[in-house]
Amino acid sequence: MPDTEEHEIASLKRRRNAVILAHYYVHEEVQALADHIGDSYYLSKMANETDERTIVFCGVKFMGESAKIMNPQKTVLMPDMTADCPMAKMADLDRIDEVRAMYGDVSVVCYMNSTAQTKAKSDVCVTSSNALSIIKKLPNRHIYFVPDENLARYVAGHLPEKHFIFHDGFCHVHTSITKENVERAKAAQPGALVLAHPECKADVLEIADYIGSTSGIIDFATKSDELKFIICTEAGVFYELMKKNPNKNFYTVGHRQYCPSMKSITPGKVKACLENMRPEVVLEESLRVEALRALEAMHEMTE
Ligand code: 13P
Ligand code: SF4
Repeated sequence: MPDTEEHEIASLKRRRNAVILAHYYVHEEVQALADHIGDSYYLSKMANETDERTIVFCGVKFMGESAKIMNPQKTVLMPDMTADCPMAKMADLDRIDEVRAMYGDVSVVCYMNSTAQTKAKSDVCVTSSNALSIIKKLPNRHIYFVPDENLARYVAGHLPEKHFIFHDGFCHVHTSITKENVERAKAAQPGALVLAHPECKADVLEIADYIGSTSGIIDFATKSDELKFIICTEAGVFYELMKKNPNKNFYTVGHRQYCPSMKSITPGKVKACLENMRPEVVLEESLRVEALRALEAMHEMTE
């Protein structure tokens, strides 16, 4: 990134009283511009805690939308409003009503990777870092988890006391990782630990040495005494992994996983959105208020 662009962004940020939040999956040069980088839970918490009037959310739409739901007084800008997570739209709103009618004692749990409409119909929202601890605390025996089936099955495996109803949502980036890829990577790097995101398929998770969110993967590798790791998540995490662990080696499973939506954000788009103060996340107030409950419940149950 040209030095001048970096300086222009810094001065625009001051002028607009803005903070830049970036997910670990965006391009390195965008992460380098950010005030806070993190997983989806951490970024949601930072959106609530920062004092700046404007948030530039370098991530996908559900992330900016969630920041706006909780912070209606702030201006939330998305450098690219078309950067959307396909999984977020995979929940079936009618099916939620059907499941509620079928089971009296059900809690509808939505993954953060969901639309505002899905959040509005859910009891609590979770991310990959807090799903297990939040669902464990819920008083309900029946859990309808939308939309990601792999994360739901991973959590269900740890909570035999609960009855899970699954939905067939998935992330195309994580499900492109196969058990065969991982086994080949292990054979090429004997002794390397496999670190996987819970959106990966069950047979990949079965051979993982650690399963966790993007922050979880980075923390695990940083605290570990081991020196070699095979990373089963989107390639953007390599930037932070290598920054924090210059002495360690990180390997892909043969091909890099790229989330096209996350990678559509560029420093040029960050600059343009600060100049123009758009695209801005705008939500209908009644939808925002309905979706707020599930997000507030998540933050209350995580603290
Ligand atoms: P994290 O919550 O681990 O950051 O994951 C977000 C995501 O989109 C995973 O694909
Ligand atoms: Fe969505 Fe998958 Fe991209 Fe995450 S990596 S934002 S789940 S498409």
